[in-house]
Amino acid sequence: PTGQLLDSRGRPIKDLRISVTDRCNFRCVYCMPKAVFDKDYAFLPRESLLSFEEITRLARLFAAHGVTKIRLTGGEPLLRRNLEELIAQLVEIPDMEVTLTTNGVLLPKKAAALKAAGLKRVTVSLDSLDDAVFRAMNDMDVPVSDVLKGIEAAEAAGLGPIKINMVVKRGLNDQEILPMARRFRGSGHILRFIEFMDVGSSNGWRMDDVVPSAEVVQRIHAAFPLEQIDPNYTGEVAERWRYADGGGEIGVISSVTQAFCSTCTRARLSTEGRLYTCLFAQSGHDLRALMRDQRSDAELSAVIGQIWSGRSDRYSEIRSAETASLRKIEMSYIGG
Ligand code: GTP
Ligand code: 5AD
Ligand code: SF4
Ligand code: SF4
Repeated sequence: PTGQLLDSRGRPIKDLRISVTDRCNFRCVYCMPKAVFDKDYAFLPRESLLSFEEITRLARLFAAHGVTKIRLTGGEPLLRRNLEELIAQLVEIPDMEVTLTTNGVLLPKKAAALKAAGLKRVTVSLDSLDDAVFRAMNDMDVPVSDVLKGIEAAEAAGLGPIKINMVVKRGLNDQEILPMARRFRGSGHILRFIEFMDVGSSNGWRMDDVVPSAEVVQRIHAAFPLEQIDPNYTGEVAERWRYADGGGEIGVISSVTQAFCSTCTRARLSTEGRLYTCLFAQSGHDLRALMRDQRSDAELSAVIGQIWSGRSDRYSEIRSAETASLRKIEMSYIGG
């Protein structure tokens, strides 16, 4: 290993989020709105995608720089064919935790294979229990029951406890905060409320649409008393709260109202192998080109080290109306 790799603000690199496809079977209004991601949208051709071998090679180099956690994302990662083969390769890396964020629809079909390949746990996105609201939010008319079946399948396969991510957008699904809390209280799963963010340039983000996490906590607390608990580790994205009556825990992710950049240890690898040092970056570094140019591991490793050393990103701390309208990379390409 190269020793402790720190960026220009003293932050180590610990997490690598890898997007394995830019495609998705949903068109969530806050992520891949149909007006942009329509039938004419040019998704990446197959040869542009990193192969599993290329991903694993990079993952090993990142591990040597200090990465201990890989999260597979997309788009919808379960749309990538034979994903379990990639997982099997990644879990071979010593001391590497491999997880996955999915919309859940393909879990009934895939959960057992994912578990067998060595996946430890999954995070499932679910924005509403109300079928009409949910169908409108995913904009592909997918019923809530499909996601609930996915969560059950993951649990049955031993991929729990499951984290459930709910993006809250005011006027769209904030009335679902309490029903969601009620539903997952006592289930053993951890529901997390995410502030609607200005990722990409196509979701029409406005500050007015953000429900601050403090308000989410207040609303739930009024019905089911909550108390705050300590983070599992420094730099944890979600702030943790537990039900005073023992009904389990919830989390809030407050990228807008309480930025957590000062402890951000995350790097992102896009579907076609560009390295992004922030979710809100405007450009990435093309690692695929280096690999396909037959560069050695040592050269690649040095490049990764240089990129991270020069990192100074802290977008959420400097967010403003102006930065929100900048041209940024889409979340479906870079991964959540
Ligand atoms: P675990 O602690 O292993 O569950 O990982 P995590 O808390 O990072 O969970 P997850 O990867 O599911 O992240 C939850 C959500 O938080 C993401 O889907 C994003 O919406 C948001 N998020 C995660 N990382 C960042 C980040 O670096 N910056 C910002 N602004 N938002 C983030
Ligand atoms: N704001 C907040 N969270 C988002 N996600 C996708 N787009 C946004 C956004 N604009 C979440 C998804 C999923 C994870 C991958 O990122 O709901 O849980
Ligand atoms: Fe697909 Fe997830 Fe984006 Fe929804 S949030 S469109 S499920 S990638
Ligand atoms: Fe990290 Fe960028 Fe998110 Fe800040 S905005 S927490 S630097 S990914």
